[in-house]
Amino acid sequence: MYLTRLALTDFRSYPSVDIALRPGVTIFSGPNGEGKTNLVEAVAYVATLASHRVAHDAPLIRQGADRAIIRASVHDATRDALVEIELNPGRANRVRLNRAPLTKPREVLGVLRTVLFAPEDLALVKGDPGERRRFLDDLLVAMAPRYAAVRADYDRVLRQRTALLKSAGPKGAAKGNRQSREAVMSTLDVWDAHLARAGAELLVAREHLVGALRPHVERAYTAVAGERGPATIEYKRSFQSPAPSASSAPLASESGHADRVKAADEALRAALAEVRDSELDRGVCLAGPHRDELDLAVRGLPARGYASHGESWSLALALRLASFDLLRAGREDPVLILDDVFAELDAGRRDRLAALVADAEQVLVTAAVPADVPALLTGARFTLSGGELTDAA
Ligand SMILES: Nc1ncnc2c1ncn2[C@@H]1O[C@H](COP(=O)(O)OP(=O)(O)OP(=O)(O)O)[C@@H](O)[C@H]1O
Ligand SMILES: [Mg+2]
Repeated sequence: MYLTRLALTDFRSYPSVDIALRPGVTIFSGPNGEGKTNLVEAVAYVATLASHRVAHDAPLIRQGADRAIIRASVHDATRDALVEIELNPGRANRVRLNRAPLTKPREVLGVLRTVLFAPEDLALVKGDPGERRRFLDDLLVAMAPRYAAVRADYDRVLRQRTALLKSAGPKGAAKGNRQSREAVMSTLDVWDAHLARAGAELLVAREHLVGALRPHVERAYTAVAGERGPATIEYKRSFQSPAPSASSAPLASESGHADRVKAADEALRAALAEVRDSELDRGVCLAGPHRDELDLAVRGLPARGYASHGESWSLALALRLASFDLLRAGREDPVLILDDVFAELDAGRRDRLAALVADAEQVLVTAAVPADVPALLTGARFTLSGGELTDAA
């Protein structure tokens, strides 16, 4: 798939901009702070309904404006779609697909698929486990948009169960919580069941995804980095499970999947029963996919804390390239976005990366220094200067 048009109103630094795009490579270049990343951030927002740079939408709205609009025309083999997103700080966003308002913004997920690689991705390797969980969940949603609902369900149940733990624990009791302990415990039982059910579905999907991703990560790491590998990834549950899950088989059958969800549900429920006392003491939920981890290792050593800067960067890149491989398998290519990537790489890695992505259906590249972009990636060029975007092709 590819974008044929991107139009922004009051998004980030842009009062208004309208760009016609073609398949193949498009390079946006210009000095620092000119708004290159702002453009690709808007593209990725259409695909994910989130920014890769900030957790909330407020910074996306141009200073002084009260809302921002992103319009994107997406072409794929089956249709042409126009997505329009109105970002309203403090209120729900409004999303239209082919001019028809959507009841829930997340119904638009899947219309555009992107894989974005940006300097922020170093946090995938060096950052907190939450970064890696988000990476997995975002990829799940890109693979199958229904997981947006699964994830939202889990987050909701987790919030409610945590609130209950807080009010039932010693701190809550001190505030004069009048519910009898018995009543609270039986309510908690109900929430344990909800959490285990929603959690099992999410974590089994993540485990399955990690199994599918693994060979691609190993291959991409060697391909782009030429670094001494192997780079390996492993999903680690936050609680004990009776048997090591066979979840990693990429070609699991439907019934195998249902069995694994059931087993994970039971294991999580048992784990919750075991940790309940400490949960009540601390007022936090101690078991479930929100505490799981994606272990990354290079040559058997944990990447976080051990890998060199170059190795960490290569590993982050490998995770994105692996995502791209997985998303394009048997389907149309997602739009590949390389934000400021080449500046970070030496000449060998630049060329290897360029060779790996040159055949993607559409690649959007940003670079402060155009010469950093390997010659293999040629196509449309836009330059940004003084807030003006010029077609330099
Ligand atoms: N909400 C906003 N309102 C107005 N301006 C904004 C807003 N958010 C960001 N900007 C401006 O946008 C600019 C940053 O744009 P962007 O991150 O796209 O730069 P860039 O071209 O990618 O730079 P670099 O080469 O350093 O990565 C900054 O000057 C910033 O002040
Ligand atoms: Mg930038």
